[in-house]
Amino acid sequence: MSLAIRFNGVVKAFGPVTVLNGVSFALSPGRVVGLLGENGAGKSTLMKILAGYEQPTGGVVEVDGRPRQFAGSREAEEAGIVLIHQEFNLAEDLTIAQNIFLGHERKTRLGLLDDATMRAGAAQVLAQVGLKRGPDTLVRELIVAEKQLVEIAKALARHARLLIMDEPTATLTPGETEALFALMTQLRSEGVTIIYISHKLDEVERTTDEVVVMRDGRFVAHKPTAQLTRHDMAKLMVGREIADLYPAKDSPPGSEAVPLLEVEGLTVPGWAEDISFEVRPGEILGFAGLVGAGRTELFEGLLGLRPHRVRRLALQGRTTQVRSPRDAADQGITYLSEDRKGKGLHVDLGMRQNLTLMALQRYARPWLAPAAERAALRDAVQRFGIRTGNTEIRAASLSGGNQQKLALAKVLHPEPKVVVLDEPTRGVDVGAKSDIYLLVQQLAREGRGVLVVSSELVELIGLCHRVVVMRAGRIQAVLDASQLTEENLIAHATGTRH
Ligand SMILES: Nc1ncnc2c1ncn2[C@@H]1O[C@H](COP(=O)(O)OP(=O)(O)OP(=O)(O)O)[C@@H](O)[C@H]1O
Ligand SMILES: [Mg+2]
Repeated sequence: MSLAIRFNGVVKAFGPVTVLNGVSFALSPGRVVGLLGENGAGKSTLMKILAGYEQPTGGVVEVDGRPRQFAGSREAEEAGIVLIHQEFNLAEDLTIAQNIFLGHERKTRLGLLDDATMRAGAAQVLAQVGLKRGPDTLVRELIVAEKQLVEIAKALARHARLLIMDEPTATLTPGETEALFALMTQLRSEGVTIIYISHKLDEVERTTDEVVVMRDGRFVAHKPTAQLTRHDMAKLMVGREIADLYPAKDSPPGSEAVPLLEVEGLTVPGWAEDISFEVRPGEILGFAGLVGAGRTELFEGLLGLRPHRVRRLALQGRTTQVRSPRDAADQGITYLSEDRKGKGLHVDLGMRQNLTLMALQRYARPWLAPAAERAALRDAVQRFGIRTGNTEIRAASLSGGNQQKLALAKVLHPEPKVVVLDEPTRGVDVGAKSDIYLLVQQLAREGRGVLVVSSELVELIGLCHRVVVMRAGRIQAVLDASQLTEENLIAHATGTRH
C-alpha cells in the first residue's frame, strides 16, 4: 500500500533562474515526514514536481524503485500521490462537492453526472475533516479556514497513498488543527505516507517521524524528529543561529497623546457588534480571538470592504468616513488582508504593480514613471527580504512566504499612519518572522499605530502593548502587557472568564 519515493538529482529552472540544484533524498514509506526550509528554499516546487504539477528540468523521481515522470496531476493522483496546495486551488464559483470531484466526476451508467453519489461522497469526506458545511455550498461563500478543509477533503476523496500537505494549518483554528493531526495519525496507520510542510516548528515536532531540511534549492539534512530540538530545526533551515524571536518591548505610549485612530460603536452586521477601541502613536495593539470571532470582518467593515455602520470614526483627531481601502489609504490607514491570494495581492500582476497600487499618485506625474516604480521595488525587496531570482515575475510565482512579504511591502508603501496587519506572519519562515517583528516595532517607534490580528497567541504576547480579545463579535476584554498570558487570552477568547 505505501509508496517509496526517491529524488535523484532533481533540478528545476524557471528560465535563467535555477530553484532546485540537484536534490537527492529518499522517503521511507508509511511515515510522516516534515519538510522544512526557509521561504523560497524550493519545498513547494519539489512537491509540485512529485505531484505532477511541474516537470523537472533534470534528474529523476523514483516511485517504488521505478523512475516516473507524471505529465500532470491526474497521472500522479492515479499513482496515489496527492498534493494539497499551499495557495488554494479551488474553483470559487463551484460548490464544495463539485470541487471535490473536479476532474474525477462520477458518472451514472448512462454517462450522466452522478450528482447523488458525488454529494454523498463529499458529505463523507467533509465529515472526516470536520467541516460543517453542506456539499452544495459555493466555495466563494467559505472563509479561509473552511477552504483549507475543503482542500483536505478533496485529497481524501482521491484516496491518496502519499499525501503532501503544504502548510495545511496556517489558516486553521487550534481545534481544527487537532482534528487534522488525528486524521494524519489515522491515515498513517492505514499506510499512507505523509509529507508535511510547515513553518510551525512545534507542530512539526509533535506530528512528524522524521524531517527533511532544504536550503537554497538543496538538500541539507534528513533526521529522525526525536533527535532534533526546535532550535536545531531552525538552525538547519537558516544555516545560522537564531537569536530571540521577539525584540524587547518598548514601553507603551502615554495616554496623553491624541489617538491616531478612534473607533466608536462599529457594527458589521452578522459579525461584529458595537465595537469601540483606539490606538495611539507608537502603540502596537493586538486583536485575539478564535476564528469566527469577527476580527477580520470587523476590519473589513472598518475599511469599507463590508456593509457596516459606525457612531464615530476619527483619524488623527478628525472625524471622518472611510469608503474603500483606497480611500482609507489616502487618509493614512492601510490593511493587510489575511487572505493574501484573494484580497491581498493581485497574483496575476507583477511584483512592481502590486507594490505601487495603493500609492499610484506618487508615480503618476502625470504619466506613470516605471523607473521610479522599479527603484521602489528594489528597495522593498531589500527591506522586506523578498527572495526571488527575478523581480519581473508575477506575484503568483513567488513562494508563499515571499508573497506574504510582498503583501506587507504593499500595505506599508503608502507610508500609513495606522496599519492593520491581519495574520502578518502567516507562512513566513522563522528568520523572516523575527524580521517582521522588528519591522512592526520600528513602525511603532516612528510614531505609527500598528494593529495586529493574529491567531498565534505567542505572537500577540511577544509583540503587543495591549490586546483586545474578541468573542462572538463582541469585545470580551482588553488586556495590557502585564496581563498577557496564553492562559488569560484563551480564557477570554473562549468565554470561560469574564
Ligand atoms: N513559476 C515560477 N516562475 C518563476 N519562479 C518561480 C516559479 N515558481 C516558483 N518560483 C521560484 O522558485 C523558488 C522556490 O519557491 P518555492 O515556492 O518552492 O519555495 P518554498 O520553499 O515553498 O517557500 P515558502 O516557505 O515561502 O512557501 C522561489 O524563488 C520562487 O520565486
Ligand atoms: Mg511553499
